[in-house]
Amino acid sequence: MPRLVPAVCCFALLLVSPIEPMFAQTPRPALAEPWMNRSLNADERADLLVHAMTMEEKIQLVHGSGWGVLRAGDPILPGHNLGAGFTPGIPRLHLPGINFADSAVGIRMAALQSRYATLLPSVIGMAATWDPGSATLYGSVIGRELRDQGFNMSIGGGVDLIREPRNGRNFEYASEDPVLSGIMVGHLAEGVQANHVMGDIKHYAVNDQETGRNVLNALLDRRSLRETDLLAFQIAIGLAKPAGVMCSYNRLNGDYACENDYLLHQVLKQDWGFKGFVLSDWEGTHSTSKAALAGLDMEQPGDTYFGSALKLAVERGEVPQLRLDDMVHRIVRSMIASGAFDDPPVRRVVDPFQGRDDAQKIAEEGIVLLQNHGGVLPLSSMKLSSVAIIGAHADVGVLSGGGSAQVDAPNGDAVHPYFGSSPWNQPVVFPSSPMRYIREQLAPGASVTFDEGIDPASAAKTAAQAKVAIVFVQQWMTEGQDAETLSLPGNQDALVHAVAAANPNTIVVIESGGPVKMPWKGEVKGILEAWYPGIGGGQAIANLLFGCVNPSGKLPVTFAVKDEDLPHPHVTGLTAGTGNNGMDGKNNPNADKSFPVDYNVEGMMVGYKWFQSKGKAPLFPFGFGLSYTQFAYADMEAKPDGSSVSFTVKNVGARGGDEIAQVYVTLPGSAGEPFRKLVGWKRISLAPQEVKRVEIALDPLFLSVFSVAQDRFVRMPGEYLIEAGGSSSDLPLHLRVPLGGLSDVAH
Ligand code: BGC
Repeated sequence: MPRLVPAVCCFALLLVSPIEPMFAQTPRPALAEPWMNRSLNADERADLLVHAMTMEEKIQLVHGSGWGVLRAGDPILPGHNLGAGFTPGIPRLHLPGINFADSAVGIRMAALQSRYATLLPSVIGMAATWDPGSATLYGSVIGRELRDQGFNMSIGGGVDLIREPRNGRNFEYASEDPVLSGIMVGHLAEGVQANHVMGDIKHYAVNDQETGRNVLNALLDRRSLRETDLLAFQIAIGLAKPAGVMCSYNRLNGDYACENDYLLHQVLKQDWGFKGFVLSDWEGTHSTSKAALAGLDMEQPGDTYFGSALKLAVERGEVPQLRLDDMVHRIVRSMIASGAFDDPPVRRVVDPFQGRDDAQKIAEEGIVLLQNHGGVLPLSSMKLSSVAIIGAHADVGVLSGGGSAQVDAPNGDAVHPYFGSSPWNQPVVFPSSPMRYIREQLAPGASVTFDEGIDPASAAKTAAQAKVAIVFVQQWMTEGQDAETLSLPGNQDALVHAVAAANPNTIVVIESGGPVKMPWKGEVKGILEAWYPGIGGGQAIANLLFGCVNPSGKLPVTFAVKDEDLPHPHVTGLTAGTGNNGMDGKNNPNADKSFPVDYNVEGMMVGYKWFQSKGKAPLFPFGFGLSYTQFAYADMEAKPDGSSVSFTVKNVGARGGDEIAQVYVTLPGSAGEPFRKLVGWKRISLAPQEVKRVEIALDPLFLSVFSVAQDRFVRMPGEYLIEAGGSSSDLPLHLRVPLGGLSDVAH
């Protein structure tokens, strides 16, 4: 697990290496070498480059240069841009190095280098917009700032399914549904790459919990695997054609992901035709020949297996020379195809204003209004005379997620300022205070009081004196550690109960990594799920509460009433009080203690599919979200070949708003999938009383099942039930459409 050790940097920068001059990032003049010829395609140019390389140069490209700034004492080579990793280039061939930056929700470790990076809303919050345009915008903020900071490769693009709602990294992932996750994260990676920065999709695959992630063996039958976790990767990779796919730490059905022939060679490269390179998660490589033959192309962050050991394996014929050439081809091809080779990054000042505006726009689209009894929201700027704001440091800022996705806050943590880069293992609050916007901009005439929310009795007293009480609650999540339960940590449930008892107009704003329990749901009037809303989050929350923006986000995950309703009532391997059960880091005493995590319990019934199949009522269903207006659905038609459906949506309320119209399909009985699944959606804007006809294309892949016998997706003949509406459990439109079989939809 990378940990930042700032003191190493000054020393390491003084090291001189013969490999590459410092910051070889300026555009190069056109040169005569044949691979500089832009009229050739990326494969042709890559072939020429590989042909020109020595054995040593090839080996140099297939591994990283060490932990760098992430670990004290590790050398930092010249040309290293001080991100998570660096693979030096080959100046003799005018090939730049690869500078990797962790950038799941914005660029990590910027403050340490006196740089600035925008904190975007968490990926799950982005997915809650259901807006592919917002996903592209999200990626373009990351791509733009990576370029500005001199990086040419992003490591982000988390598309693991939210199979385990208590997973510490759910804030880095999009959703529990493969179609929603694949489409949103695919657009995100497209946005990154549009900036001529190499993009990445991670963690391949089934890295669905953090507890024991380095040792656990995820078990999942092949059909379920292809229709759930792998389908999300398939869609995202197909859309974005990313430069890199990062293989994950865990084992899958026996083999480590980074030496798993089925995952890397058979599915990713053969079935999906992936042309980029597979890089290991940091210290996720476990072998030389096995990994190389299975399809791993680059070891990170060091050279334990893919340095001299790989050279020897090639010389001995254990790994064919052609395989090494293929690894190198994939790496340089990706550099050329993404534009990072011909248009290398040029450092300049990051635009914080643009970043903030973009982050705020995405937050405003992705925050979900879950409850609004008696029309308590929106609050009126004109009429509100007093408001009590309680808890979660809402007086100074909003929460962010931890681990390698942590972005540095301007001026450090707003609660406990520090200097330099953000810590790995403690919450960081960004200076975007919801209270400030309420007090200064949205309710300047109201009396605004604040209570820290530590003592429920004191908070109740403050709440009782105001017309409205807004309680902020939070759940801090981080890499390497899952939540023990869905409950909010600390005494926050008691806090909400106490405030709700004191004030009949209580509204709860949740800042969480994913779904949480709400035992107080029946006691409060309003509930807003804000996720980790990013650097524009305070303003976004205030704008939604006061109706300057009409809420439109919808849940990308099911919120369960209680842990016992989940397929796994406890996170497998997580012992109360031990955090990750001591099995996160590779170099720990439990490293050899692999244990199974049996995802066959739910198989393909992930999230809402589990709840529907088991007849369990969720707290809030997948796809759910309220607006300050209402929408009505009518007149669904389907093309006879099942290629699209259309219907009308009307805004029947008095204010303009966006609706996310969703389409679900239940396959014929012979498919053996007794649940509906999301197959398409559209986000539409409607003025009051406006009606729009919406057409939604249905991708044959999403109507198919994976046939293990035929090793491909096929469409079963029979009657398909198509339903449409505003959430997975509110589908007023139904159609039954007979469709013929299709024997070869996709691999
Ligand atoms: C994480 C990756 C990250 C890498 C480099 C690992 O701990 O799992 O997501 O990209 O570190 O920081």
